[in-house]
Amino acid sequence: MFDYKRLEAVSVAGEAPATEPERQYYFMKKCKEWATGEISRLGRPLTMSIQTLGCQMNAKDSEKMTAILEYIGYTEIDGPVADFVMYNTCTVRENANLKIYGRLGYLKNHKKSNPDMKIALCGCMMQEADEVQRIQKSYPFVDLVFGTHNIYKLAELLYTQIWSNRRVTDVWEEPKEIVEDLPGKRKYPFKTGVNIMFGCNNFCSYCIVPYVRGRERSREPQDIVEEIRGLAEDGVVEIMLLGQNVNSYGKTLKNPFDFAQLLRKVNEISGLRRIRFMTSHPKDLSEDLIEAMADCDKVCSHLHLPLQSGSSKILEKMNRKYTKEDYLELVSRIRKKLPDISLTTDIIVGFPGESEEDFAETLDVVRKVRYDSAYTFIYSKRMGTPAAAMENQVPNEVVKERFDRLLKEIQQISSEITDSRVGQTVPVLFEERNLQDSKLMTGRLSNNAVVHCPGEESLIGQIKQVTLRESRGFYYMGEILS
Ligand code: 5AD
Ligand code: SF4
Repeated sequence: MFDYKRLEAVSVAGEAPATEPERQYYFMKKCKEWATGEISRLGRPLTMSIQTLGCQMNAKDSEKMTAILEYIGYTEIDGPVADFVMYNTCTVRENANLKIYGRLGYLKNHKKSNPDMKIALCGCMMQEADEVQRIQKSYPFVDLVFGTHNIYKLAELLYTQIWSNRRVTDVWEEPKEIVEDLPGKRKYPFKTGVNIMFGCNNFCSYCIVPYVRGRERSREPQDIVEEIRGLAEDGVVEIMLLGQNVNSYGKTLKNPFDFAQLLRKVNEISGLRRIRFMTSHPKDLSEDLIEAMADCDKVCSHLHLPLQSGSSKILEKMNRKYTKEDYLELVSRIRKKLPDISLTTDIIVGFPGESEEDFAETLDVVRKVRYDSAYTFIYSKRMGTPAAAMENQVPNEVVKERFDRLLKEIQQISSEITDSRVGQTVPVLFEERNLQDSKLMTGRLSNNAVVHCPGEESLIGQIKQVTLRESRGFYYMGEILS
């Protein structure tokens, strides 16, 4: 767990320390002094609204930044307008960027009525020079701009902004050190994500992630295990090990250690009940990992294995480094060792040059693998990626029509699989009260499927045996065995 005593021990009397994380502790305390003054000047709490777009990595980064801001003295609220508004951005598809510009337009008017309001933009979209330039030119009311590599510096950046009273932009092209020992705040007390690595070296030809998240770096296994041990002592029962490609974990470490070994180590941590991980690249999924998944009782019965396309020709152009046959063969090896495993996937429709035959290959894989569920994406051209310069971009109407056909197929299979488990009694981790019907509590099966059961708030964070009574397509209605 984070040791606040270490933070309190840092003196704010002199200059800021040169080493991390003490330097950030210094700025957190400096900002706290300022915030305390503000709160008494205003006679009310200072509020913050943190809005996170994109993947689990961003969600995790937001948890870290929330903890820093809470220490400083901000109180989180649900609404979109606050004294400190931060957008942790995504740029994997173009519509994520468009969303940010829409929201900035909305905030501009609010800032007129609250000139003390601070607006911060961070995350993947800020790693793109064109976007930062556009913000500098056309959105002068944004106070803080930083990227993915320096989120740990939030307090220092905020301090600089407060005392200079001008916009602060700090985006690093390359990551520097991995800074450990900063506070974290969990959205749920009983489950959280844990970064095991950062960045990506794969350069799939459509993907902007390697350009905005930098090269692959793994955390030391003992740092990861220690963090999870602390979390388990603090009541966490489920963790999600996070990385763009967890199957290549450890390749950058001085002392060799791979993902299968890490899973086995994490599985030994007492108090922990469930282990998930995200994301696996099929090209790096080892036999050792399949063995480890079979041996480790806490590892959930779920594997997210992005396919992207079922056509070997398109996979080659995507630089995925496997063929349709390799993928199917891998799935059959996984299913032999782990017969009950739920497989989910990501699929892109309309990659440049995708013909009807190529698309038919994707449908064929979907029918053969029978995914429990799949995230389907319309190909989005990202400037600077090799695919953006490829010929034969597929017309929108064709893509849309294929996308609808794919979705229908996936939904059909998904509801058949959901139906087939009705009647089973399975362990469920309860997560929250159902927003639509307050008599119901919502939880997740080991395979990540959602179930709603009549029950009390005290179930939250507990694992109970639940009989799946009814399937509603993508989720279940269940009953807790008393
Ligand atoms: N267009 C559409 N989908 C994309 N993804 C990544 N880049 C793009 C893009 N340019 C999808 C992939 C990846 C998921 C996180 O986002 O399917 O697995
Ligand atoms: Fe993007 Fe491919 Fe890396 Fe995933 S593995 S983040 S799709 S480049």
